[in-house]
Amino acid sequence: MVDLVASYGGTPVPGWWDRIRPHSLGWATARLGDGTLVGFVNVASDGGDHAFLIDTKTRGTHQRRGVGTRVVRFAAQHAQAAGCEWLHVDFDDHLRSFYFGACAFEPTNAGLIDLRSMPRDEELPVSS
Ligand SMILES: CC(C)(COP(=O)(O)OP(=O)(O)OC[C@H]1O[C@@H](n2cnc3c(N)ncnc32)[C@H](O)[C@@H]1OP(=O)(O)O)[C@@H](O)C(=O)NCCC(=O)NCCS
Repeated sequence: MVDLVASYGGTPVPGWWDRIRPHSLGWATARLGDGTLVGFVNVASDGGDHAFLIDTKTRGTHQRRGVGTRVVRFAAQHAQAAGCEWLHVDFDDHLRSFYFGACAFEPTNAGLIDLRSMPRDEELPVSS
């Protein structure tokens, strides 16, 4: 995984996958014949009908060959088979054509709070 993330200029965090994995409903990978990891996506879930697609990654040398689309499709099929009814994803603007186009996600109402910049309780103004 470290090698895969480094391959597209990402910042690998050793131990990241071991930490995330217990919270995963499942994950999909694409590999070359020799076992080299070229594609990955993780699916988390609420244990019910909602699944969340996270950390889609394609090896830098293998991007724009349909690998990402394929692993996302595979993950969606298996989330469906696991009983999930909805698959959520969020992404930066430049990936709209990947998720809305190639992967067939539909635009919807969604909300997000950046918790990194949200004031903590002690920083909130005290009302009298
Ligand atoms: C996003 C990512 C997973 C796409 O994987 P991929 O295997 O290259 O995707 P595909 O080959 O299946 O792409 C299918 C289509 O999606 C669109 N697309 C894919 N990557 C794109 C990009 N970086 N910018 C704009 N459109 C893109 C294109 O329309 C593409 O079709 P085309 O190659 O015929 O133009 C890959 O770029 C990646 O690993 N990026 C770094 C990690 C990352 O940002 N992950 C997303 C987390 S939300």
